[in-house]
Amino acid sequence: MAFLRLFSILAILAMVNASEYDDSTCYSHTCPKVEKISKKITEKFIKDDPTLAPGLLRILFHDCIVRGCDASVLIDPTPSNNATEKDTVPNSTLRGFQVVDAIKAELEQECPGVVSCADVLSLAARDAIVAINGPWWNVPLGRKDGKISLASEALANIPSPFSNITVLKQNFAAVGLTPKDLVVLSAAHTIGIGHCFLIQRRLYNFTGKGDTDPSIDPSYAAELKEKCPKVVGDFKTFVPMDFITPTTFDENYFGIVAKNKGLFQSDAALLNDETTKNYIYTQIYTQGASFIGKDFAESMEKLIQIGILTGDQGEVRKICGAVNGY
Ligand code: HEM
Repeated sequence: MAFLRLFSILAILAMVNASEYDDSTCYSHTCPKVEKISKKITEKFIKDDPTLAPGLLRILFHDCIVRGCDASVLIDPTPSNNATEKDTVPNSTLRGFQVVDAIKAELEQECPGVVSCADVLSLAARDAIVAINGPWWNVPLGRKDGKISLASEALANIPSPFSNITVLKQNFAAVGLTPKDLVVLSAAHTIGIGHCFLIQRRLYNFTGKGDTDPSIDPSYAAELKEKCPKVVGDFKTFVPMDFITPTTFDENYFGIVAKNKGLFQSDAALLNDETTKNYIYTQIYTQGASFIGKDFAESMEKLIQIGILTGDQGEVRKICGAVNGY
Protein backbone atom coordinates (compact mmCIF):
# COMPACT_ATOMS: atom_id res chain seq x y z
CA MET A 1 0.00 0.00 0.00
CA ALA A 2 2.76 2.39 1.05
CA PHE A 3 4.62 1.38 -2.08
CA LEU A 4 1.55 2.20 -4.22
CA ARG A 5 1.17 5.61 -2.55
CA LEU A 6 4.86 6.36 -3.14
CA PHE A 7 4.48 5.23 -6.74
CA SER A 8 1.50 7.58 -7.34
CA ILE A 9 3.35 10.51 -5.77
CA LEU A 10 6.36 9.84 -7.99
CA ALA A 11 4.11 9.56 -11.03
CA ILE A 12 2.47 12.91 -10.25
CA LEU A 13 5.85 14.55 -9.66
CA ALA A 14 7.07 13.23 -13.00
CA MET A 15 4.00 14.67 -14.71
CA VAL A 16 4.49 18.08 -13.10
CA ASN A 17 8.12 18.10 -14.15
CA ALA A 18 7.27 17.06 -17.70
CA SER A 19 4.54 19.70 -17.93
CA GLU A 20 7.20 22.38 -17.50
CA TYR A 21 8.24 21.60 -21.02
CA ASP A 22 6.26 18.93 -22.82
CA ASP A 23 2.82 20.36 -22.46
CA SER A 24 1.92 22.62 -25.37
CA THR A 25 -0.73 24.17 -23.17
CA CYS A 26 1.87 25.37 -20.66
CA TYR A 27 0.97 28.99 -21.39
CA SER A 28 -2.78 28.32 -21.27
CA HIS A 29 -3.17 30.37 -18.08
CA THR A 30 -0.24 32.74 -18.41
CA CYS A 31 -0.36 33.62 -22.10
CA PRO A 32 -3.17 31.76 -23.86
CA LYS A 33 -2.85 33.70 -27.10
CA VAL A 34 0.79 32.83 -27.70
CA GLU A 35 0.26 30.52 -30.67
CA LYS A 36 -2.35 32.81 -32.20
CA ILE A 37 -0.07 35.85 -31.95
CA SER A 38 2.93 34.02 -33.39
CA LYS A 39 0.88 32.73 -36.29
CA LYS A 40 -0.72 36.07 -37.06
CA ILE A 41 2.54 38.03 -37.09
CA THR A 42 4.51 35.37 -38.95
CA GLU A 43 1.82 35.09 -41.62
CA LYS A 44 1.87 38.85 -42.13
CA PHE A 45 5.64 38.91 -42.64
CA ILE A 46 5.58 35.88 -44.94
CA LYS A 47 2.81 37.37 -47.03
CA ASP A 48 4.99 40.44 -47.64
CA ASP A 49 8.18 38.42 -48.13
CA PRO A 50 7.87 34.62 -48.47
CA THR A 51 11.68 34.30 -48.60
CA LEU A 52 11.73 34.91 -44.86
CA ALA A 53 10.40 31.37 -44.35
CA PRO A 54 13.69 29.67 -45.27
CA GLY A 55 15.48 32.39 -43.35
CA LEU A 56 13.62 31.58 -40.13
CA LEU A 57 14.04 27.83 -40.51
CA ARG A 58 17.78 28.29 -40.90
CA ILE A 59 18.00 30.53 -37.81
CA LEU A 60 16.27 27.80 -35.81
CA PHE A 61 18.69 25.13 -37.06
CA HIS A 62 21.69 27.30 -36.24
CA ASP A 63 20.28 27.95 -32.79
CA CYS A 64 19.55 24.33 -31.92
CA ILE A 65 22.83 22.86 -33.14
CA VAL A 66 24.84 25.20 -30.91
CA ARG A 67 24.18 24.79 -27.18
CA GLY A 68 20.63 23.54 -27.88
CA CYS A 69 17.46 25.44 -28.73
CA ASP A 70 18.04 28.26 -26.24
CA ALA A 71 17.84 31.31 -28.51
CA SER A 72 21.57 31.89 -28.03
CA VAL A 73 21.87 32.66 -31.74
CA LEU A 74 19.70 35.75 -31.27
CA ILE A 75 22.02 37.54 -28.85
CA ASP A 76 23.74 40.62 -30.23
CA PRO A 77 27.37 41.36 -29.41
CA THR A 78 27.93 43.75 -26.49
CA PRO A 79 31.05 45.37 -25.06
CA SER A 80 31.19 42.65 -22.41
CA ASN A 81 30.66 39.84 -24.96
CA ASN A 82 31.75 41.13 -28.32
CA ALA A 83 31.86 37.71 -30.00
CA THR A 84 28.44 36.08 -29.85
CA GLU A 85 27.17 33.30 -32.11
CA LYS A 86 25.37 35.84 -34.28
CA ASP A 87 28.64 37.56 -35.06
CA THR A 88 30.25 34.71 -37.03
CA VAL A 89 30.63 33.86 -40.72
CA PRO A 90 28.12 30.96 -40.74
CA ASN A 91 25.55 33.24 -39.13
CA SER A 92 26.35 36.34 -41.17
CA THR A 93 23.70 35.53 -43.77
CA LEU A 94 20.89 34.58 -41.37
CA ARG A 95 17.63 36.36 -42.17
CA GLY A 96 14.34 36.87 -40.38
CA PHE A 97 15.33 38.20 -36.95
CA GLN A 98 12.76 40.98 -37.38
CA VAL A 99 9.93 38.43 -37.33
CA VAL A 100 11.09 36.99 -33.99
CA ASP A 101 11.48 40.50 -32.56
CA ALA A 102 7.99 41.55 -33.70
CA ILE A 103 6.34 38.47 -32.16
CA LYS A 104 8.27 38.92 -28.94
CA ALA A 105 7.33 42.63 -28.74
CA GLU A 106 3.62 41.85 -29.06
CA LEU A 107 3.87 39.00 -26.53
CA GLU A 108 5.58 41.34 -24.07
CA GLN A 109 2.56 43.67 -24.37
CA GLU A 110 0.12 40.78 -23.97
CA CYS A 111 1.85 38.84 -21.18
CA PRO A 112 5.15 40.40 -20.07
CA GLY A 113 8.03 38.12 -19.09
CA VAL A 114 6.24 34.86 -19.86
CA VAL A 115 7.15 33.46 -23.28
CA SER A 116 10.81 32.72 -24.02
CA CYS A 117 12.57 33.78 -27.20
CA ALA A 118 13.46 30.11 -27.73
CA ASP A 119 9.74 29.28 -27.90
CA VAL A 120 9.07 32.27 -30.13
CA LEU A 121 11.79 31.21 -32.60
CA SER A 122 10.50 27.63 -32.71
CA LEU A 123 6.96 28.79 -33.35
CA ALA A 124 7.94 31.41 -35.93
CA ALA A 125 9.95 28.90 -37.98
CA ARG A 126 7.13 26.35 -37.93
CA ASP A 127 4.44 28.92 -38.73
CA ALA A 128 6.55 30.37 -41.54
CA ILE A 129 6.98 26.99 -43.22
CA VAL A 130 3.27 26.27 -42.85
CA ALA A 131 2.52 29.71 -44.33
CA ILE A 132 4.32 28.67 -47.54
CA ASN A 133 2.32 25.40 -47.55
CA GLY A 134 5.12 23.32 -46.10
CA PRO A 135 4.73 20.60 -43.46
CA TRP A 136 3.48 21.23 -39.92
CA TRP A 137 5.21 19.90 -36.83
CA ASN A 138 4.41 20.02 -33.16
CA VAL A 139 6.19 22.67 -31.07
CA PRO A 140 6.17 21.88 -27.34
CA LEU A 141 6.36 25.11 -25.37
CA GLY A 142 7.83 26.17 -22.06
CA ARG A 143 11.58 26.19 -22.72
CA LYS A 144 13.78 28.93 -21.31
CA ASP A 145 16.38 31.20 -22.91
CA GLY A 146 20.08 30.68 -22.37
CA LYS A 147 22.42 33.35 -21.09
CA ILE A 148 25.56 32.29 -22.94
CA SER A 149 26.37 32.88 -26.59
CA LEU A 150 29.88 32.29 -27.88
CA ALA A 151 31.16 32.81 -31.40
CA SER A 152 33.66 29.99 -30.88
CA GLU A 153 30.85 27.49 -30.30
CA ALA A 154 29.03 28.56 -33.46
CA LEU A 155 32.23 28.15 -35.47
CA ALA A 156 32.86 24.73 -33.96
CA ASN A 157 29.37 23.28 -34.31
CA ILE A 158 27.53 24.73 -37.31
CA PRO A 159 28.07 22.35 -40.22
CA SER A 160 30.13 23.77 -43.07
CA PRO A 161 28.99 23.67 -46.71
CA PHE A 162 32.49 22.34 -47.49
CA SER A 163 32.16 19.32 -45.18
CA ASN A 164 32.28 15.71 -46.27
CA ILE A 165 29.77 13.08 -45.15
CA THR A 166 31.90 11.83 -42.24
CA VAL A 167 32.09 15.28 -40.68
CA LEU A 168 28.42 16.02 -41.33
CA LYS A 169 27.38 12.78 -39.63
CA GLN A 170 29.61 13.70 -36.67
CA ASN A 171 28.09 17.20 -36.44
CA PHE A 172 24.62 15.68 -36.26
CA ALA A 173 25.53 12.77 -33.99
CA ALA A 174 26.99 15.26 -31.52
CA VAL A 175 23.46 16.52 -30.86
CA GLY A 176 21.74 13.14 -31.05
CA LEU A 177 20.65 13.32 -34.69
CA THR A 178 20.98 10.29 -36.97
CA PRO A 179 22.13 10.02 -40.61
CA LYS A 180 18.44 9.81 -41.50
CA ASP A 181 17.82 13.13 -39.71
CA LEU A 182 20.81 14.53 -41.60
CA VAL A 183 19.39 13.74 -45.02
CA VAL A 184 15.81 14.62 -44.06
CA LEU A 185 16.72 17.99 -42.55
CA SER A 186 19.21 18.83 -45.30
CA ALA A 187 16.23 18.65 -47.63
CA ALA A 188 15.18 21.97 -46.09
CA HIS A 189 17.41 23.18 -48.93
CA THR A 190 14.36 22.65 -51.13
CA ILE A 191 13.72 26.33 -50.35
CA GLY A 192 15.96 29.33 -49.90
CA ILE A 193 19.17 30.65 -51.29
CA GLY A 194 22.90 30.11 -51.23
CA HIS A 195 25.43 32.89 -51.69
CA CYS A 196 27.88 32.67 -54.55
CA PHE A 197 30.91 33.33 -52.37
CA LEU A 198 30.28 29.94 -50.76
CA ILE A 199 30.68 28.08 -54.06
CA GLN A 200 33.53 30.08 -55.58
CA ARG A 201 36.06 27.43 -54.67
CA ARG A 202 33.83 24.61 -55.84
CA LEU A 203 33.40 26.28 -59.22
CA TYR A 204 36.77 27.85 -59.88
CA ASN A 205 39.56 26.45 -57.76
CA PHE A 206 38.49 23.16 -56.26
CA THR A 207 41.92 21.62 -55.74
CA GLY A 208 43.93 24.81 -56.10
CA LYS A 209 44.56 24.22 -59.82
CA GLY A 210 41.80 26.41 -61.27
CA ASP A 211 39.49 23.39 -61.57
CA THR A 212 35.80 22.68 -60.88
CA ASP A 213 34.54 20.09 -58.40
CA PRO A 214 34.21 17.00 -60.64
CA SER A 215 31.18 15.84 -58.65
CA ILE A 216 29.01 18.69 -60.04
CA ASP A 217 27.04 17.93 -63.18
CA PRO A 218 28.96 19.82 -65.92
CA SER A 219 25.92 21.62 -67.37
CA TYR A 220 24.86 22.74 -63.90
CA ALA A 221 28.40 23.92 -63.16
CA ALA A 222 28.28 25.99 -66.37
CA GLU A 223 24.95 27.52 -65.34
CA LEU A 224 26.25 28.31 -61.89
CA LYS A 225 29.33 29.96 -63.36
CA GLU A 226 27.09 32.30 -65.35
CA LYS A 227 25.14 33.29 -62.27
CA CYS A 228 28.12 33.34 -59.96
CA PRO A 229 31.03 34.87 -61.86
CA LYS A 230 34.57 34.44 -60.63
CA VAL A 231 35.01 37.41 -58.33
CA VAL A 232 36.56 38.06 -54.98
CA GLY A 233 34.73 40.02 -52.32
CA ASP A 234 31.16 39.72 -53.62
CA PHE A 235 29.11 38.74 -50.60
CA LYS A 236 25.76 39.72 -52.10
CA THR A 237 25.03 37.59 -55.19
CA PHE A 238 23.07 34.42 -54.55
CA VAL A 239 21.31 31.57 -56.34
CA PRO A 240 18.32 29.42 -55.37
CA MET A 241 19.28 26.11 -53.81
CA ASP A 242 16.43 24.30 -55.58
CA PHE A 243 16.61 25.79 -59.07
CA ILE A 244 13.42 23.99 -60.21
CA THR A 245 10.93 25.07 -57.52
CA PRO A 246 12.94 27.48 -55.33
CA THR A 247 10.04 28.71 -53.21
CA THR A 248 8.04 25.50 -52.82
CA PHE A 249 8.64 23.14 -49.93
CA ASP A 250 8.66 19.88 -51.87
CA GLU A 251 10.77 16.75 -52.42
CA ASN A 252 12.66 18.12 -55.46
CA TYR A 253 15.83 18.40 -53.41
CA PHE A 254 16.35 14.65 -53.63
CA GLY A 255 16.14 14.59 -57.43
CA ILE A 256 18.53 17.52 -57.61
CA VAL A 257 21.11 15.90 -55.36
CA ALA A 258 20.81 12.56 -57.18
CA LYS A 259 21.54 14.34 -60.48
CA ASN A 260 24.73 15.87 -59.00
CA LYS A 261 23.11 19.28 -58.92
CA GLY A 262 23.22 19.91 -55.18
CA LEU A 263 24.53 23.43 -54.56
CA PHE A 264 27.01 22.74 -51.80
CA GLN A 265 29.57 20.00 -51.21
CA SER A 266 27.53 19.14 -48.12
CA ASP A 267 24.48 18.46 -50.31
CA ALA A 268 26.49 16.35 -52.76
CA ALA A 269 28.08 14.48 -49.85
CA LEU A 270 24.74 12.84 -49.03
CA LEU A 271 25.38 10.47 -51.93
CA ASN A 272 28.49 9.14 -50.18
CA ASP A 273 26.79 7.21 -47.39
CA GLU A 274 24.55 4.16 -47.79
CA THR A 275 21.80 5.39 -45.43
CA THR A 276 21.55 8.92 -46.77
CA LYS A 277 21.90 7.79 -50.39
CA ASN A 278 19.24 5.08 -50.01
CA TYR A 279 16.90 7.60 -48.43
CA ILE A 280 17.36 9.94 -51.39
CA TYR A 281 16.58 7.20 -53.91
CA THR A 282 13.63 5.91 -51.91
CA GLN A 283 12.11 9.39 -51.89
CA ILE A 284 12.61 9.69 -55.64
CA TYR A 285 11.27 6.30 -56.63
CA THR A 286 8.53 5.58 -54.09
CA GLN A 287 5.07 6.86 -54.79
CA GLY A 288 3.76 8.97 -51.90
CA ALA A 289 7.17 8.89 -50.23
CA SER A 290 7.44 9.86 -46.60
CA PHE A 291 9.49 13.09 -46.59
CA ILE A 292 6.69 15.67 -46.76
CA GLY A 293 3.96 13.75 -44.94
CA LYS A 294 5.98 12.40 -42.03
CA ASP A 295 9.77 12.45 -41.95
CA PHE A 296 10.44 16.18 -42.01
CA ALA A 297 8.08 16.80 -39.10
CA GLU A 298 9.59 13.92 -37.12
CA SER A 299 13.14 15.16 -37.57
CA MET A 300 12.14 18.76 -36.80
CA GLU A 301 10.50 17.57 -33.59
CA LYS A 302 13.82 15.98 -32.65
CA LEU A 303 15.80 19.06 -33.65
CA ILE A 304 13.72 21.43 -31.51
CA GLN A 305 14.18 19.26 -28.42
CA ILE A 306 17.96 19.53 -28.44
CA GLY A 307 19.43 20.82 -25.19
CA ILE A 308 16.32 22.66 -24.07
CA LEU A 309 16.48 24.58 -20.82
CA THR A 310 13.65 24.46 -18.29
CA GLY A 311 12.95 25.97 -14.88
CA ASP A 312 15.95 27.73 -13.37
CA GLN A 313 18.30 26.56 -16.09
CA GLY A 314 17.48 29.68 -18.07
CA GLU A 315 15.45 32.87 -18.14
CA VAL A 316 12.72 34.52 -20.19
CA ARG A 317 14.47 37.36 -21.96
CA LYS A 318 12.74 40.71 -22.19
CA ILE A 319 14.13 41.26 -25.65
CA CYS A 320 15.55 38.52 -27.80
CA GLY A 321 18.77 40.29 -28.71
CA ALA A 322 20.11 40.60 -25.15
CA VAL A 323 20.20 38.67 -21.89
CA ASN A 324 18.24 40.25 -19.05
CA GLY A 325 20.04 42.82 -16.96
CA TYR A 326 22.59 43.50 -19.61
C1 HEM B 1 23.73 19.42 -43.13
C2 HEM B 1 24.41 20.49 -42.95
C3 HEM B 1 24.05 21.82 -43.50
C4 HEM B 1 24.90 22.68 -44.09
C5 HEM B 1 26.38 22.48 -44.32
C6 HEM B 1 24.13 23.84 -44.48
C7 HEM B 1 24.66 24.94 -45.09
C8 HEM B 1 23.91 25.98 -45.61
C9 HEM B 1 24.44 27.09 -46.33
C10 HEM B 1 25.91 27.35 -46.60
C11 HEM B 1 23.39 27.84 -46.74
C12 HEM B 1 23.45 29.11 -47.59
C13 HEM B 1 23.30 30.34 -46.76
C14 HEM B 1 23.52 31.60 -47.54
O1 HEM B 1 24.32 31.61 -48.49
O2 HEM B 1 22.90 32.62 -47.19
C15 HEM B 1 22.19 27.23 -46.23
C16 HEM B 1 20.94 27.72 -46.42
C17 HEM B 1 19.83 27.20 -45.82
N1 HEM B 1 19.80 26.14 -44.94
FE1 HEM B 1 21.29 24.87 -44.58
N2 HEM B 1 22.84 23.65 -44.11
C18 HEM B 1 22.73 22.44 -43.50
C19 HEM B 1 21.61 21.91 -42.93
C20 HEM B 1 20.42 22.59 -42.81
C21 HEM B 1 19.33 22.17 -41.98
C22 HEM B 1 19.36 20.97 -41.06
C23 HEM B 1 18.34 23.08 -42.15
C24 HEM B 1 16.98 23.16 -41.51
C25 HEM B 1 16.35 22.18 -40.97
C26 HEM B 1 18.80 24.04 -43.12
C27 HEM B 1 18.07 25.06 -43.61
C28 HEM B 1 18.52 25.96 -44.53
C29 HEM B 1 17.66 26.92 -45.21
C30 HEM B 1 16.16 26.98 -45.08
C31 HEM B 1 18.49 27.71 -46.00
C32 HEM B 1 18.08 28.90 -46.86
C33 HEM B 1 18.28 30.17 -46.06
C34 HEM B 1 17.87 31.44 -46.74
O3 HEM B 1 17.22 31.40 -47.78
O4 HEM B 1 18.22 32.51 -46.21
N3 HEM B 1 20.08 23.72 -43.47
N4 HEM B 1 22.53 26.11 -45.55
